[in-house]
Amino acid sequence: MVTKAENSFSFGAGETGGAAAISFVHLTKQFKNQLAVNDLTVDVAPGRITGLIGPNGAGKSTALRCLLGLATPTSGETRILGSHYSQLTNPMSRIGAVLDSRSFNPGLTARQNLLVLTAAAGIDDNRVDEVLAQVDLAEAANKRVKGFSLGMKQRLSLAGALLANPEVLILDEPANGLDPIGIAWLRGFLRELAVAGRTILVSSHQLAELEHTIDDVIILHKGTLIAAGTKAAITQGRSLEEAFLALTLAADVSSTPVQNATQGGTK
Ligand SMILES: Nc1ncnc2c1ncn2[C@@H]1O[C@H](COP(=O)(O)OP(=O)(O)OP(=O)(O)O)[C@@H](O)[C@H]1O
Ligand SMILES: [Mg+2]
Repeated sequence: MVTKAENSFSFGAGETGGAAAISFVHLTKQFKNQLAVNDLTVDVAPGRITGLIGPNGAGKSTALRCLLGLATPTSGETRILGSHYSQLTNPMSRIGAVLDSRSFNPGLTARQNLLVLTAAAGIDDNRVDEVLAQVDLAEAANKRVKGFSLGMKQRLSLAGALLANPEVLILDEPANGLDPIGIAWLRGFLRELAVAGRTILVSSHQLAELEHTIDDVIILHKGTLIAAGTKAAITQGRSLEEAFLALTLAADVSSTPVQNATQGGTK
């Protein structure tokens, strides 16, 4: 079951099988006039796919950016594989990331862009063609990225994240721009990666798709954690979308974080 203490959640040990792969510990990020993440404490279990969901502006991308050392917390901290990202030895070989802000050089081909990354991270160049094949971009390998569709760029970002065969994948809206075939492909692809023992933390608005992909759920709303747990514990027989809507509505109605909107009514 989901457990709750203050504004924090953790999964029962029996459900996750060990130490957290990722931890947010009282993470707060305040931009000038905007509290983007508010005292977030939650663990992500290893070897599982965890969905990070929340309305626009909930703080998902900010939390992931803090995790990857791309934004500095106002207070609190994040841990990934036991350390802060910046303290990991060779983090690029252990953690792959796809952020919506990721950009490639449009004048270079897909292969050339990935070769830039392998050079920077000291990864074998042979990996480039392997990952391009993995994301179904082998035929576009020698095309310039400026001619790529949004979905092709997303696949290329995934390829970049996989180059080092990392233990952990952090994906911010990887389904963005993918067509229905691409979204279905992504689902199977993430499952394959997780079966191979990787930890995947993925944010997405595609709740119907995400539902078939994830093991665990974290819901953020207005920077605050409102629920976390296994998919079954959060949904309780509802669809993920129904559970999400009920929980966010309940959090809107009450300023107190709400764990379970099915108890005692939500209106
Ligand atoms: N660099 C920034 N400067 C100022 N405010 C920011 C900055 N980045 C994010 N914010 C604000 O912080 C809040 C959280 O934004 P964030 O991008 O983390 O949300 P999100 O959950 O990823 O939303 P979406 O679903 O739209 O991607 C928003 O109110 C946003 O406007
Ligand atoms: Mg975002």
